[in-house]
Amino acid sequence: MPEATIWSVGGYAPPHIITNEMLSHRMDTSDEWIRTRTGIHERRTAGDDETTASVSVNAGQAALQAAHFDAADLDWVIVCTDTPEMWSPATACFVQESLAASHASAIDLTGGCAGFLQTLQIMSPLAAAGKRLLVIGTELLTHALNWNDRTTAVLFGDGSSAFLLGPSDEGVPGIRIGLGLSRSDGAQSDILGKPFGGTRFPITPDVVLEGRLHTIRMEGPKVFKHAVTLMSDIGRRVVQEASLGLEQIDWIVPHQANQRIIDAVTHQVGIPTDRVFSHVAKFANTGSASIGLAMADMLEQHLIKPGQRLLSVAFGAGFSWASQLFYVDQIPPCEFRHDGQPA
Ligand SMILES: CC(C)(COP(=O)(O)OP(=O)(O)OC[C@H]1O[C@@H](n2cnc3c(N)ncnc32)[C@H](O)[C@@H]1OP(=O)(O)O)[C@@H](O)C(=O)NCCC(=O)NCCS
Repeated sequence: MPEATIWSVGGYAPPHIITNEMLSHRMDTSDEWIRTRTGIHERRTAGDDETTASVSVNAGQAALQAAHFDAADLDWVIVCTDTPEMWSPATACFVQESLAASHASAIDLTGGCAGFLQTLQIMSPLAAAGKRLLVIGTELLTHALNWNDRTTAVLFGDGSSAFLLGPSDEGVPGIRIGLGLSRSDGAQSDILGKPFGGTRFPITPDVVLEGRLHTIRMEGPKVFKHAVTLMSDIGRRVVQEASLGLEQIDWIVPHQANQRIIDAVTHQVGIPTDRVFSHVAKFANTGSASIGLAMADMLEQHLIKPGQRLLSVAFGAGFSWASQLFYVDQIPPCEFRHDGQPA
């Protein structure tokens, strides 16, 4: 039976670098506080001329060019994001047009920071069945931040990543998508999110003026606790259900939210730290883009080798959490665009 395979990977980290030091001139925080609580040193922000669609196009083009794949041969363009171009139409439609994916259907999916893995799990059967998909995870989270709220503003960054997916039986080498699981608990929807701006809490002038409630809100300690417990649990379950042992996992590729969360999951799962990838220091939390950006960076650094097994774990608003196994048959081509300079 053919399986869904990652034929190529694209990544785009927007050009403007904002260091912790720069943030400390803008709000009551410090490089030392941010580093010790989160492991983050800097994050990227998109330029004034960039939007969710344009950064998605950048990552999508990187994946297509790496594979020398013609966008006209795509069946689907999917953008996974919590920070869309607009309410309607879907961001993916703008991306489809810009990429000239002339035969593709385009749709957005939203799942918080676990959304990229959830999207892969929904879309993998289509790729296994012979469709060619461009799955893009993008966030412009710095557009959704309250820059007066130091408890959230220091955590997030902008970015985009893309996987070109197809079936495993067409002679295109790559990373096979294995067993994945995901879960959600809507009873925890209030601990992390951007509640205003939808139909339940429309944006009014008062909302904007009184509390900037149209921005991300988070109960940090609760999110931390759920993230560690639920990611550890679902990661172990995926390994077990795939009849593997943890010693057979070569790399954990976690959602890049916070180094302390990554360390706690590493400890709880019981896997050596040198098998856990992190670049949260450089890019902070890029939401739906995070896992794909991590993979792009690992491929660029030649950390991923043929024959390896990777396990991703993610969590985010919803509350949702997910885990996904990947089998590296061969190294897929990758283009990671990440030149940056201080904003
Ligand atoms: C946000 C987080 C780093 C806060 O760390 P913490 O150790 O729990 O810190 P606390 O919330 O207990 O706050 C401790 C103090 O630091 C202060 N503080 C918060 N943010 C600060 C900042 N950026 N700079 C300086 N001080 C800050 C708080 O106001 C508090 O001060 P107080 O004791 O005088 O009230 C942590 O809860 C966390 O990582 N949560 C998960 C966040 C996450 O990953 N979200 C994304 C999910 S996809």
